[in-house]
Amino acid sequence: MKNFTLNDGNKIPALGLGTWKSQAGDAYQAVKEALRLGYRHIDAAWIYQNEAEVGQGIHEAIAEGFVKRQDVFVTSKLWNSFHDPKDVEHGCRESLDALGLDYIDLYLMHWPIAFRPETFMPQSPDDFWPLSSLPLSKTFNAMLKLKALGLVKSVGVSNFSVKKLDQLIAESGVVPAVNQVELHPYNPQVELLDYCRDHGIHLTAYSPLGSGDRPESMKAQNEPPLLENANINEIAVSAGLSPAQILLAWAIDRGTSTIPKSTNPNRIAENLAAQAYVLSDADRSKLDNIGIQFRYVSPQQWFIPGVTYQSDDFWD
Ligand code: A2P
Repeated sequence: MKNFTLNDGNKIPALGLGTWKSQAGDAYQAVKEALRLGYRHIDAAWIYQNEAEVGQGIHEAIAEGFVKRQDVFVTSKLWNSFHDPKDVEHGCRESLDALGLDYIDLYLMHWPIAFRPETFMPQSPDDFWPLSSLPLSKTFNAMLKLKALGLVKSVGVSNFSVKKLDQLIAESGVVPAVNQVELHPYNPQVELLDYCRDHGIHLTAYSPLGSGDRPESMKAQNEPPLLENANINEIAVSAGLSPAQILLAWAIDRGTSTIPKSTNPNRIAENLAAQAYVLSDADRSKLDNIGIQFRYVSPQQWFIPGVTYQSDDFWD
């Protein structure tokens, strides 16, 4: 399994199993099968509401001798309702308890947005902490303390733009190990990739296949299905691979780790095999210049004037 080295010396496997949208029962089977096949990286989060089943898959894989705990890289994410520094350890321990683990390899701040405690999903402006009253660096500093407690090995963020990373680093004095964001040829985020390379921040690509199984409420009308793109399909046919495999090979080729979600055993195996493929210069260039810009995941419903960000300053 190919790895990337993080700025704290820890290693992250290039290909991991995503678990967002995996139904609880399916998540358990998928994680166990992935570890049996050779995956060594599992991406989880408090908000996915399936960490107990993800943990069960990890434990059974360990019990059946497919893998040892120290050889599996497990990511989890602090939910937006645990941003108050006094709640950060509690949020982390809820994930640890659900996963049944005594440490998490990588702990990410899930979004640069803070909800009031107990807010699962906000219903009104009062459910948010105004940005001015709870800076992201305060939450991040509290997350860093979890390392000293032995609860997490590496600390990073998710859904952070260049400007937000810059501000976080300036205020906390610490460079996050990872930023996990939506990355694929329709949303290549070249400026962010360059910034992260320059600052030693590893990028993990979420929704690398275009997340076609997102809830309908999260979809735009007539959105372009990534896996059906003609150029990607043409490259796949000539390589004797699937479009998904081409997308995953492209992600790893850029130096990003990637976490395709699947609960289907054949596709779990297919995705793992993609890491062995080396893209040609011509194919890389075609994928880099695909000519369509589209972001599949955006928290529009959280953009409240005067309280949180707006569309134009969220992805800045
Ligand atoms: P399934 O879980 O049934 O395999 P993303 O990782 O971008 O969120 O995409 C996840 C979606 O892509 C799911 O609908 C998943 O379905 C599907 N998927 C995962 N692997 C493949 C593959 N190799 N080929 C086609 N679709 C895939």
